[in-house]
Parts: sequence; C-alpha cells; structure tokens
Amino acid sequence: MAERFTPLPDAPIGVFDSGLGGLTAVRELRRILPGENIVYFGDTGRVPYGSRSTDTIVHYAKQDIAFLLEQKVKFIMAACGTVSSTLPAEYTDALPVAYTGVVESAARAAADATRTGRIGVIGTQATIRSQSYAAHIRSLLPDAEITATACPLFVPLVENGYFGADNTVTRLVAQDYLKEVQAAQVDTLILGCTHYPLIAPIIAQIMGPGVTLIDPGRCTALAAKAALEKAGLLRSGTDGAARYFVSDTPDSFARLSEWFLGEYSGGSVTRISVEGYPAD
Ligand code: DGL
Repeated sequence: MAERFTPLPDAPIGVFDSGLGGLTAVRELRRILPGENIVYFGDTGRVPYGSRSTDTIVHYAKQDIAFLLEQKVKFIMAACGTVSSTLPAEYTDALPVAYTGVVESAARAAADATRTGRIGVIGTQATIRSQSYAAHIRSLLPDAEITATACPLFVPLVENGYFGADNTVTRLVAQDYLKEVQAAQVDTLILGCTHYPLIAPIIAQIMGPGVTLIDPGRCTALAAKAALEKAGLLRSGTDGAARYFVSDTPDSFARLSEWFLGEYSGGSVTRISVEGYPAD
C-alpha cells in the first residue's frame, strides 16, 4: 500500500466505478464543487462487477484505487454500490488518503426520508448479498422494514445506452424487478447502484409519486464536500476540470458520458491498462 502523504487542496478528487454509473456522482460533484479537479476511472473493460465473487470485486477495486493513488488524488470516492458494499473497512481505513463509499450516505438519507419505516433497496447481486444497506439503515432505524431486490440486468442496459425515459425494454425489465418493493409498499427506495439514477425516470413512474428515490451519488457528493471542508482540502473557484480514464475503448464512454453529464461534460478520455496495478 502507498505511503500516507499530506494532500493539498489543488490535488484532484479520485472517483471510480466499474463503468458509467459513477458519473452520477461526478455530475453532483461538479455541480456542488465547481472548483474541484476530478480524476474518474471507469473500469469499462471489466464491467459488471456486481455479478462477480467478493474476491474478484476486492481485487479489481484495489487495482482501481492503486491507479487513482498514482494520480496523486487527495480523496477517493468509490462511486459504486458494489465496491462500497464489498471492500473491507480494514483496507479502506489504511488508505493513504481519505476514502468514502456510497452506502453510508444513502442509508442515512433513506432513514431521514422514510415516514413509514418501509424502505426498499435495489442493487447488484453482490450489493444485495452483502446486506450493507440494510445494516446501515438498521443502525439508524432498528425497526425499519427493509425489502431488498437484486436487479442484475440494469447495469448492462445502462452501459449499452438503454436509459431513455421512453425505453420500452428497460421499462419491462424494471416492472418485473420492482414488483417486490411495490408489494412491500415502501415509501423510500434506495437506488443502491450508481448506474440506477440514469433510469430514475422509469423507476419513478413505476413506483409512483408517493415513493422517494435516494440517489447514492448525490448523497455521497454532499458527504465528500463536508469531509473535504473539515480536512481543509476544499478547492475554491469554478475552474475545476475533469479527466476520465477507462480500461476499454473510450469511444462509447465519451459519447454516453457527454449525453449524461450534459453541461458538466468535458475533459479528455484516455484508455489505460489497469490489470498491471497492484491489488495489495
Ligand atoms: N455502479 C456499480 C454499482 O454501484 C455497478 C456495479 C456493476 O458493475 O455491476 O454497484
């Protein structure tokens, strides 16, 4: 593991995900912290993570983090519910810079939002298997009734651009996946994977107006701001830039990320090979 060092405010924030999903957190970071420089890594060559074993996810995530540390980032955000649910705290606590996943902030937002205590969680298979969201929610609301459903097709659908509000394929899949949380009459639904906010309009239509959707990227961007402020590491101004790195061809990433980031898009996209990075 890299040596601890004292980061400076001008250093970038490092954000990573298995693919496009973490851009939902980047968009929020760029909106609320326009002075920050961001280095984003999307492991597009190895997406999806959520259907893999714990060992493999941990191995991949450690390599992703090693790449970001090489970029001399001041803070690391795992903008991935799967990684956040899987990386052990003994590892993340020992990182040379501060780290946050998305689970804690999203669980807190859900606990604050619910009126009935009935909370739904949707996520990848690995995230649901870990019960990470449920554990955090129960630490805040011991009597919460939690209904958790894995939605393994959502990530490939989003990665392939099937996220328009009128996409009939994604709508059909979502209708099936959301049956259980609908039957449980949840009033709050955690979009427990950072890819899911891209299809939030479809999910919102199916769940109806009485259900609050929790976007983990948004909650975590706010938590990152608070953490950086506390550490004296906020970069002021509005001239922050973003650089994007991917582990497979940058073409589709560049196209989809532009569509998704909208006014916050911009920044070079470079392909790197992540396999050679250490996973210790
Ligand atoms: N965005 C990732 C998450 O939040 C997707 C994981 C995957 O690649 O399956 O879980």
